[in-house]
Formats: sequence, structure tokens, C-alpha cells
Amino acid sequence: MAQPNKGRLAVLISGRGSNLGAFIDACASRSLPAEIGIVISNNPDAPGLALAREAGIPTAVINHRDYDSREGFDAALVHAIAKQEIDLVILAGFMRILTPVFVEPFAGRLMNIHPSLLPRYPGLNTHQRALDAGDAEAGVTVHFVTLELDGGPPILQARVPIEPGDTAERLAERVNAQELVIYPLAARWFLEGRLQLTARGAELDGELLPPEGVAYPGELPDTHRVRA
Ligand code: GAR
Repeated sequence: MAQPNKGRLAVLISGRGSNLGAFIDACASRSLPAEIGIVISNNPDAPGLALAREAGIPTAVINHRDYDSREGFDAALVHAIAKQEIDLVILAGFMRILTPVFVEPFAGRLMNIHPSLLPRYPGLNTHQRALDAGDAEAGVTVHFVTLELDGGPPILQARVPIEPGDTAERLAERVNAQELVIYPLAARWFLEGRLQLTARGAELDGELLPPEGVAYPGELPDTHRVRA
């Protein structure tokens, strides 16, 4: 039987690659109708590169240290991705601040995952900041990328209660478990043509999402759930 066209992803990483691993698994199990065309790392030692190679996915290392400017680095990224006919670019723990040179060509098809309940705690050390502030919960947000750092319209958000005696590491582990579920789900909605970035913000099935995105799993109608 003919397979419907699969979406093509580029996944950008800097480190461990657990989110990349979730995408590899979701593509393999077909819960995400996609294939990963390329994995790019700015860090030649990123453990996630090995995950990609084991899965037979082409990899590229574009080391930011080889470039004089952020714009030069971003132009190299754009060039590498443009050759691949990519539908959606996934920033998966890609720890570089991006300029318009990168963000503009992929506007509307560029997503990031950030380990906080945006708009709280953009930037680094999100879990420690949540603990220091005495917050009752932490979490993670998948969002469209715009020029504002960690400021593009949220798509999906999962909340994780903070437990007594939590450390940033323990909290990060529980948040990460949610990341691995919600990020492929957001990509699936996009590839199914249900999710768009419009002038109004992020829209799912033609409806503008609330400022914090869809709450996972709380607000998800059955049709939005991930297939087991
Ligand atoms: C994830 O926790 C992701 O949310 C975070 O980096 C980690 C990457 O883990 N991203 C950011 O902090 C972006 N500002 P992974 O390499 O195991 O997917």
C-alpha cells in the first residue's frame, strides 16, 4: 500500500539528545509521520550525534567556534538545512542564540523546547530558578521560534509539581520525561497541517491557542492524544 508522504525534519542538538531520541522513536513507531533528514550539532562531542548515527540518520557538525560571528554560523546552518527539503526544524537542546539570518528563513516551521513554564524563566538554569523562587511547579514548553529569545508563541506546556527536597537535577529528570512526550506530539500536529503560526499566534485546528499553549495532558481532547 502506498505510504502517504512523510514530513522531513531537521533536528538541531548540542548535547545528550534525549529529545532527538524521542523523535527517532516516534518516527520508527510511526506515531510521528516523519523522517529525520539531518541532525546538526554545533558541538562535535554531543552524545546525541551517536544516537543519530546508530539510527542511520545523516549528521553534520557545524561548530560555532569556527565562525567569527553569530550571523556567519547561522548562515552555515541555513545552508546545510536548505539542501535537505525540510518541512520542520526542531531545536532539541540546541544551546545557541539565533539571529534573524537563521530564524527568518524558517519562520513558521521552527520549534523549540524550553524547560520552564514560559513566559517564566526564559534563558538558562530554569529549574534552579524555579526552586529558588519557591514555585510550586515547574514544567516545559514547546513553542514556535521567533526573534524574541524563548518568546515565540507556546504550543504545548506540561506542568510538573515541585516536590519537597527537590534538586534541579531531580526536577530536570521529571521535566525531561514530559519533554519526550509533548515535543513529538507538537511536531505531529504541525505535519498533519493542524498547527500553524499565523499573525495572531499559534493556531491549532484554526483556533488561536491560549498564551501558555495547550496544557498537556489536561486540555487535550481524545483526538489530540498520542497513540500508544
Ligand atoms: C532539554 O531539557 C531541553 O528542554 C533543554 O535542553 C535539554 C536538552 O536535552 N533546552 C534548553 O534549555 C533550551 N534553552 P537533550 O539533549 O537530552 O534533548
